Formats: sequence, C-alpha cells, structure tokens
Amino acid sequence: MRPLRIEQMQVRSFRNLERVDLELGERFNVVAGDNGQGKTNLLEAVYVLATSKSFRTSKPTDVVSFERDLASVRGRIVEDGDARVQSVGIRVGARTVKIDDKRPPTLAAYAVRTPIVVFHPGEISLSMGPSSERRRLLDRAALYLAPAAMDELESYTKALRARQRALETRGPAASDLPEWETLCVRHGLALMEHRARAGELLAEGARAAFARIASPELSLSVEFAPGAPREEAAFREELERRRSVDARRGSAGVGPHRDDLALSISGRPVRGVASQGQHRAVTLSLKAAEIDVIGGARGARPVLLLDDVSSELDRERTAALFSFLRDLEGQVLLTTTRPELIDTGAAAARSDFVIRAGNLERVSRVD
Ligand SMILES: Nc1ncnc2c1ncn2[C@@H]1O[C@H](COP(=O)(O)OP(=O)(O)O)[C@@H](O)[C@H]1O
Ligand SMILES: [Mg+2]
Repeated sequence: MRPLRIEQMQVRSFRNLERVDLELGERFNVVAGDNGQGKTNLLEAVYVLATSKSFRTSKPTDVVSFERDLASVRGRIVEDGDARVQSVGIRVGARTVKIDDKRPPTLAAYAVRTPIVVFHPGEISLSMGPSSERRRLLDRAALYLAPAAMDELESYTKALRARQRALETRGPAASDLPEWETLCVRHGLALMEHRARAGELLAEGARAAFARIASPELSLSVEFAPGAPREEAAFREELERRRSVDARRGSAGVGPHRDDLALSISGRPVRGVASQGQHRAVTLSLKAAEIDVIGGARGARPVLLLDDVSSELDRERTAALFSFLRDLEGQVLLTTTRPELIDTGAAAARSDFVIRAGNLERVSRVD
C-alpha cells in the first residue's frame, strides 16, 4: 500500500480554531488538552480536509466559527512522494473543494482522494447501537469501492421521501406512487449491491481482526442484512403492499434505509448478549476492517484519527488499543486528556502538541 500523509495544515475560523497552522509528523501525533479546548474540533478539521464532510454533524455550517461567515481548511498531502494541496471552504449555502486549486468533477471524487478513518468514543454504538451506525460504516466503505454508491444513496433517499410525501398527502392511491416506487427499487437495488460488496469485504477483515484481538476460541461473523428483497419484482410488490401501513406509520417498512450488518460471536447475535469487553472487541475489529477495506480500495494507507483516547479506558484496555495501533502503519493523529497514558512505544516517531482555547502549540514529548 502506498504511504500517505498530511504534512501540514492551515485551519481558519473552524469552530473555536480561529487560526491554527500545523506541521504533522509522519507517524504518531499526540494532541493533549483539557475538555472543551478544541481537540475534537481539530480532528474534525482534518476529516473535513480529507473528505469535505464532518464526522459529527450533517450540517456543514455547524463548523463555521460563531463569529465568522467562512471556515476553511487547507493542507499539503504527500502520497507516495507526490504532493498535492487540498482545500475546503464552507459558508452558508456553499462548500468549495479544490485539489491543487482546481475543482474536482464531483464531491465524491474529492472525498476519496485522501483515505481517512476516524475512531471516536461513541463508536461503540457500531456494535451496540442502532443500525444507522452500521449503514454509515457500509456507506463509507462503499464510497471508496465505487464513488457511484454515494449517488445511489442520494437518489434512493430522494425517491423514498417523495413516495412518503405522496402517501401522506394524497393517500395510497396517489397516481405518482408507481413512478416513485420504480425509482426506489432501481436505486435501492443498486445501493444494496454496493453495500453487499462492502459488507463482504468488511466481514473478512473483521473476522481476521477479531481473531487477533479477542480470545482465539471465539469467532466473529458479520453479514449484510438487506432491508428489502434484492430482486426487482419482489421489492416492488412489498412497497405496493405496504402503502397504507407506511402512510399511517410515517415511514417505509421496507427498503435499504433498513439495511444492517448482522453481528454474531460464535453463532450468537452480539446485541443484548455480548459483554462490554466483547462489544469493544467487535467495534475495534470493524474499525480495523474499515481501515483494510478503504486502504485496499484506494491503494493507499488511510490516515487514522483517534479522539479522546484513554479518557475512560483502564490500563489494560489502553495497552490493548496501543498494541493494535502499533501493528497498523501510517499516520495517526490522536487526542487525549491524559498524554501520560499514551504509550506509542519508544521507537516510534512522535510529535506532541497541546491545545488550549483553540490554540495549538508544539511541545516536547510529555512522558
Ligand atoms: N461553531 C463554533 N464556533 C465557535 N466555537 C465553537 C463552535 N462549535 C463549537 N465550539 C466550541 O468548541 C469548544 C469545544 O471543542 P471540542 O473540540 O469539542 O473540545 P474537546 O477538546 O473537549 O474535544 C467549545 O468551547 C465550543 O463552544
Ligand atoms: Mg472532544
């Protein structure tokens, strides 16, 4: 896999980061700071640089500083010896993305240029939480496998909303329903195709990672569980049959918006059965699989972001996380309130920073 890294970055008027200029090390970058100082904001800025999107809000303008109209992130990225400059500007009503000062053909084309994987404390919901988290994982992986997956998701979501609006305003006999259902089926089937492929690859990676992380006598199985029949006529029929119920319920009971990844450990469903420690191992395995799939699809090693490491972890779990991290190569940015617990290993190249009230400072190593 080609090496890839973010060499330097300029962040402007991005949440509480008014002006941050940052030179990043090629391996571990440790950002220490108390709560509320801007640690997550900094990782969010890196994620926006790489993908044009945030990992914690779907509303782009949330990241613009309260006092400004425009947030921007610009960075120099080196992939296999070749450098490029990427930039993202966000203001009300507009998002501008550029690679070497040129606009890429689509947002998806921008989003897959710099592969990146983020790991934050809420991630445990991949294993314990609602299916929406796992669909997002599927879609992140699918995007790198085929950027068209993003368009299918968008088209499907539009058609599904239009069908629901028709049902709720004009009832199950509305004349435009067949047209919307045709679109739901067409884009829905394509979307499930992309997700099934992503699911297969994630399953392989997660199984292998789980075998390394958890005890060897347990095995993890991950399987794509489609929210609709994967066959055209059957999917159509289901939609038609459910019109009245869907109108009453306010949502469609069938379709890829209900896709999931079924997770089980040695034959038992993870949900409601697994211990806290097993949920963590499953989550870590899924993230390892995400790194594998995205890196493999893109042919370059993803940048890894880890937010709030060690805030809640005990010593043993921190050690497990770091042995996992040390096995992964590539550039890592991690934030923590407790830098003294971050054991990156004596040999590893490491750059340390401290962040206070949105100001970042390079410091000498704090251990
Ligand atoms: N759009 C915004 N403009 C200015 N400040 C913001 C904006 N959004 C969040 N903040 C501020 O960012 C701070 C939290 O930063 P965060 O990165 O979440 O902290 P932490 O270091 O705990 O991860 C808070 O003080 C919050 O008020
Ligand atoms: Mg935070």
